[in-house]
Amino acid sequence: MSVNPASLPTAKNPIGVFDSGVGGLSVLREIRRELPSEDLLYVADSGHAPYGDKSTGAIEARAIAIVEFLIRQHAKAIVVACNTATGVAIRTLRARFSLPIVAMEPAVKPATAVTQSGVVGVLATSRTIDSDNFAKLHERFGAGVKILMQACPGLVEQVEAGDLSGDGTRALVERYVAPLLEQGADTLVLGCTHYPFLTPLIREIAGSSVAIIDPSAAVARELRRRLDNTDLLSDRSHAGTEQFWSSAALGTTQPVISQLWGMKADVRSMPNDTTVFASGISRAAGS
Ligand code: DGL
Repeated sequence: MSVNPASLPTAKNPIGVFDSGVGGLSVLREIRRELPSEDLLYVADSGHAPYGDKSTGAIEARAIAIVEFLIRQHAKAIVVACNTATGVAIRTLRARFSLPIVAMEPAVKPATAVTQSGVVGVLATSRTIDSDNFAKLHERFGAGVKILMQACPGLVEQVEAGDLSGDGTRALVERYVAPLLEQGADTLVLGCTHYPFLTPLIREIAGSSVAIIDPSAAVARELRRRLDNTDLLSDRSHAGTEQFWSSAALGTTQPVISQLWGMKADVRSMPNDTTVFASGISRAAGS
């Protein structure tokens, strides 16, 4: 059953944003900068992160359940702040829901414009690298530039744990970044929304001459354009609010959301109906 808004949303309604976990807060941060007066709803599906080891059906089902939840909270537009969910589920979401849906694009195009060495490294989850969307980007923008794709298992889990600079995280970042540098990459694309929180560490390991490209600000600008084109841009003059939900235990997730958001966040549990749906999906995924 799909849930489309019962009455047409207006510019006063909030924007719904979700990710497999806390990574999408890097996108939420850019949305807040770009659109200071919008009310923002954020769902961290941390109880099911990482999406990278879930089946296509499981990721689609989670994405549908979360979008339905956000629509019930009166979202006027959705931002899929997750490259993996974008790669796997964006067509299904757009076919099913009528409200504007803005999604991630690994920033391969800007990276090919920036690189001097002609070698670009893309850090992403295995699911994103294997997705059709990503293969298309590679075909469209990869001509004349060597694009090295580096899957980074384990990094999402480190960020989910709020460990942005410990020995384990450093060892993983070194393992994934070093081979790209050895092959001449002078530009690194962050193809997963968890990774911008690791930028200081990546910068330390890669050095100051390497460009690190995060598509989040471009996604926030695209959201502004989409809202503007559909007359859904808020014209309020006061600051917007944020509301947070998580599907993981709040004792674990609330401190990490507060850490990454940069101030204490009041996080609520995802309601039971979504969670019940989710546990069925986990079984179906066999993961
Ligand atoms: N932040 C998600 C992304 O951008 C992480 C995916 C996952 O949970 O595997 O892809």
